[in-house]
Amino acid sequence: MKNQDTSKPGLTYFELQAYIGTTKHMGGLETTQELIELCHIVQDTYVLDVGCGAGATASILAGTVGCRVVGVDLREEMVALSAERARRQGVACLVAFRVADAQELPFDDATFDAVLCESVATFIEDKQRVVDELARVVKPGGYVGLNEEIWLKEPTPEVVEHVKGMWSVKSSVPTAEGWGAILKSAGLRDVIVKTYKVDARREATQVKRYTSGDMFKMFWRTLVLYAKSAEFRAYMRKQRLPKGVFEYLGYAVLAGRK
Ligand SMILES: C[S@@+](CC[C@H](N)C(=O)[O-])C[C@H]1O[C@@H](n2cnc3c(N)ncnc32)[C@H](O)[C@@H]1O
Repeated sequence: MKNQDTSKPGLTYFELQAYIGTTKHMGGLETTQELIELCHIVQDTYVLDVGCGAGATASILAGTVGCRVVGVDLREEMVALSAERARRQGVACLVAFRVADAQELPFDDATFDAVLCESVATFIEDKQRVVDELARVVKPGGYVGLNEEIWLKEPTPEVVEHVKGMWSVKSSVPTAEGWGAILKSAGLRDVIVKTYKVDARREATQVKRYTSGDMFKMFWRTLVLYAKSAEFRAYMRKQRLPKGVFEYLGYAVLAGRK
């Protein structure tokens, strides 16, 4: 398992998330609950969570709704974290995880009743290809739901460069209208696009997705890394957000029906 228990993880956004053991999306638990409603997820819905990260959404779905969930992520460490979380939360019988690329999902057409993708497609250059894949594997009449970053207004070059550096990605961030057009081009109908500014109260619900043990591990590992690694301290200094960034960077909750 790469970087899982070493004292020196690689210094990219996803390597660090895998190391501290938690991932996030804008809006925390509240946006997941919105997607559950918009995608009509109930106990007999068979769900795919693409880019499942540390597996919080899959375990929440299995634990609270009682549905079956498959989670996929490009990173092996995330798949391991997700499976371990499901075991700890007593929902392993309802969930399964595997390594897969969102751009080439290893499932037949029309396999799932609902497909979720929370803060994943933003990081991938070919967003249309991702959403086409999400739409391909959902059944006719099923729902695709995303929660992705957007530009609320034309960003300054400084903000664009900072955001790309922070996430260690080259990909560009669409507007809410841009995401809506991508869903429609993928053949989805009745597309709903809800636009949000970053709100501290909603962000605080990130912690509710995790146990106190997860939070302790996250703070402890970050603290130890900060104390030990000059490279990490330099990395963290670069992560300081430019003033007013959230005037530009927001997120959208999107859903469409096949
Ligand atoms: C910001 S995290 C969000 C994780 C999770 N959805 C959540 O809400 O906590 C993005 C996740 O997408 C995964 N990812 C990035 N590119 C991917 C790809 N091409 N296919 C599948 N997963 C990918 C990363 O490994 C990471 O776990």
